[in-house]
Amino acid sequence: MVKKNTCVFISGTGTNLKALIKSSREYNFPINIKLIISNKKDALGLLYAKRYSIPFKVVKTKDTLFEKKLINILNEKKINLICLAGYMKILSKSFINSFKGKIINIHPSLLPLYKGTNTFSRILKAQEIKTGCTVHFVNEKLDSGKIILQKSFEIGKNESILSLKKKTQKIEHKAFSQAITKLYMLV
Ligand code: GRF
Repeated sequence: MVKKNTCVFISGTGTNLKALIKSSREYNFPINIKLIISNKKDALGLLYAKRYSIPFKVVKTKDTLFEKKLINILNEKKINLICLAGYMKILSKSFINSFKGKIINIHPSLLPLYKGTNTFSRILKAQEIKTGCTVHFVNEKLDSGKIILQKSFEIGKNESILSLKKKTQKIEHKAFSQAITKLYMLV
């Protein structure tokens, strides 16, 4: 199997990155993580890049040429899939168009519900009875691209933001890999 050259974008703890790295080490998993991009130099997730010896770059998003530089790096490495795994910066329309249909994101809610940030507090406030996560294609509108896969669970009676986050992340770690398998195994 020819594995897709993949780049993972992160900003934080990188637990989804870690799950993707583990899956990618499996013989039959359809992606190879060639590069990790972080917009924060102290992102904890960069530890996984180091631990698993995956090339990484920290890119400063204040630089106006930042996306141009990024596109060059991604093209050099022949990247054909970009996974946004807790990447907290909005990508420009022109960047998204340069990789049309090749950028996917994981979001901690059952989209189209609760787009954007602070999802857990909003879900609790609305007294939802279930929630989950969504893996979707990235288009020009925030958290609005075509859904690839969702996973859900029931919200308990005494749930807190922290417990909801933990439960959501637990299913996210499976969902991201399953979505990628769905994308490439079934075509
Ligand atoms: C995840 O919950 C993801 O849904 C959201 O950001 C979080 C990233 O967590 N987009 P981690 O950095 O993968 O631990």
